[in-house]
Amino acid sequence: MQSLSCLPSAIFLSFTLLNLQYLTAKAAKCHVDDESGLLAFKSGITSDPSGMLQSWKSETDCCTWNGITCLVDDRVTALYLSGQPDNRTQILSGTISSSLSKLQFLDGIYFLNLRHLSGPFPNFVLSLPRLLYVYIENNKLSGRIPESIGNMKLLNVFSLQGNKFSGPVPNSIAQLTNLNQLKLGGNLLTGTIPLGIKNLKILTQLTLDGNQLNGTIPDFFTSLTNLFNLNLSHNKLTGKIPASISALAPNLRYLQLGHNSLSGQIPDFLGRFRALDTLDLSWNQFTGVVPETFSNLTKIFNLDLSRNSLVDPFPAMKVKGIESLDLSYNQFHLVNIPAWVTSSPIIYSLKLAKCGIKLKLDNWNPAETYFYDYIDLSENEITGSPFKLLNRTDYLKGFYASGNKLSFKLDTLKFPTTLKDLDLSRNSMTGKVPNAVSGLEKLNVSHNHLCGQLPKTKFPASAFNGNDCLCGSPLPACK
Ligand SMILES: *[C@@H]1O[C@H](CO)[C@@H](O)[C@H](O)[C@H]1NC(C)=O
Ligand SMILES: *[C@@H]1O[C@H](CO)[C@@H](O)[C@H](O)[C@H]1NC(C)=O
Ligand SMILES: *[C@@H]1O[C@H](CO)[C@@H](O)[C@H](O)[C@H]1NC(C)=O
Ligand SMILES: *[C@@H]1O[C@H](CO)[C@@H](O)[C@H](O)[C@H]1NC(C)=O
Ligand SMILES: *[C@@H]1O[C@H](CO)[C@@H](O)[C@H](O)[C@H]1NC(C)=O
Ligand SMILES: *[C@@H]1O[C@H](CO)[C@@H](O)[C@H](O)[C@H]1NC(C)=O
Repeated sequence: MQSLSCLPSAIFLSFTLLNLQYLTAKAAKCHVDDESGLLAFKSGITSDPSGMLQSWKSETDCCTWNGITCLVDDRVTALYLSGQPDNRTQILSGTISSSLSKLQFLDGIYFLNLRHLSGPFPNFVLSLPRLLYVYIENNKLSGRIPESIGNMKLLNVFSLQGNKFSGPVPNSIAQLTNLNQLKLGGNLLTGTIPLGIKNLKILTQLTLDGNQLNGTIPDFFTSLTNLFNLNLSHNKLTGKIPASISALAPNLRYLQLGHNSLSGQIPDFLGRFRALDTLDLSWNQFTGVVPETFSNLTKIFNLDLSRNSLVDPFPAMKVKGIESLDLSYNQFHLVNIPAWVTSSPIIYSLKLAKCGIKLKLDNWNPAETYFYDYIDLSENEITGSPFKLLNRTDYLKGFYASGNKLSFKLDTLKFPTTLKDLDLSRNSMTGKVPNAVSGLEKLNVSHNHLCGQLPKTKFPASAFNGNDCLCGSPLPACK
């Protein structure tokens, strides 16, 4: 009887205690170390036009400040400050105070798109024992990445993408065996790709694009089979695509090696990459044929092989919905626009410059034209007119067809309202230059058979040179 009657009050008591604890946690301020560390950071910021740190005031609970998360009692666990990615106006200028090392419970640091945040690598991160996530992206930090980064063995993500870091990728990176993402793209890094990256066995994303890395791509991919994003584009890499990349076949979705000095043949094994979404091998020195195995890349959406020395025959792809394709400036003689391109229901970018296409443009009937942003058919042997095509592409931004044999009256062409960039130079167009061109950002109709007075535009004479009888500014006045 006794024990039964005290049960409800025990429940009541513990409920009250819980409540009390909750209330005290609410009322208490964040840990004094965290508050002073954050306020010191704030004092290193010289300008904050968007008021990102306005709520950071002493004597208030720092867990409630903008960008602060506290998940362990009164301790700050994440610091998240982000500017707008596409807005280059000044948001937060200054440097990162080393006092942030007082935030000993920090597990994630996110400084994103703070384009005026400058100074060296923030060494305070090296003294944070619980740090798992470092996203210091699109700021203006510079100098070397410290070798001691290798001590941060818990790190899951290390991203310094889009800063101005220089010097080598530290060899000690090999010790960060818990890394899931290593993103150092868009910096000024030099030297070679460290061999030790092969130790990072759970890596899913390796992006070193947009640096000045040289040497060959290490043949170390057999241990990196979790990779789904490998981006080494825009560097100075030489040599062949290493054989061990074939180990990435099951999972790799993005393979970007464009804008390097890679050579040799495109390996057959790439045709086995069934998960491949994007393949960019553009602006290299690849030779030979595109492997027939590519016909098995049925799920590829983006394929860019432009600016190599690839030759015929191009494989008959079985892909149902290519989104963007660039085969320009190789040694192809495709004759026609391939059927798997014409039939794509989702294509938005088609670039087949200098691909040996001999079509009459009026006879080309793409299944879908609605999504098209860009069409580049320059330097082919295309005849006829783009009337039908441009009449169907409501969202086209750029149309490039210079160096063909198009013959039609330019003043009867209907321009999509979205069109910004039009190059029809070196064709056989006749007629006048219509007023409608004045709404474009770029125009080139030079070297055709146009005649008559030019409308008022901002384009230079070279956009109109070499026609039969065009006149008026910027060309000589009409007689
Ligand atoms: C960019 O950000 C600034 C500051 O927050 C704001 O005033 C401006 O309107 C933004 N500009 C654009 C184009 O979004
Ligand atoms: C790869 O790098 C290029 C060049 O820096 C960049 O434009 C592209 O968005 C990157 N893609 C991925 C998937 O990382
Ligand atoms: C890479 O570039 C550096 C200069 O940044 C040069 O000293 C080195 O010899 C180059 N290495 C290779 C393999 O090309
Ligand atoms: C495409 O894949 C199938 C199944 O793996 C294989 O039998 C065939 O030979 C491949 N085709 C080409 C052209 O490689
Ligand atoms: C342009 O499209 C309209 C409406 O879709 C159609 O009536 C017209 O015949 C087309 N013009 C040409 C030149 O194809
Ligand atoms: C127009 O094209 C011609 C020849 O293709 C080139 O020489 C000229 O510089 C171009 N002008 C402009 C404004 O693009």
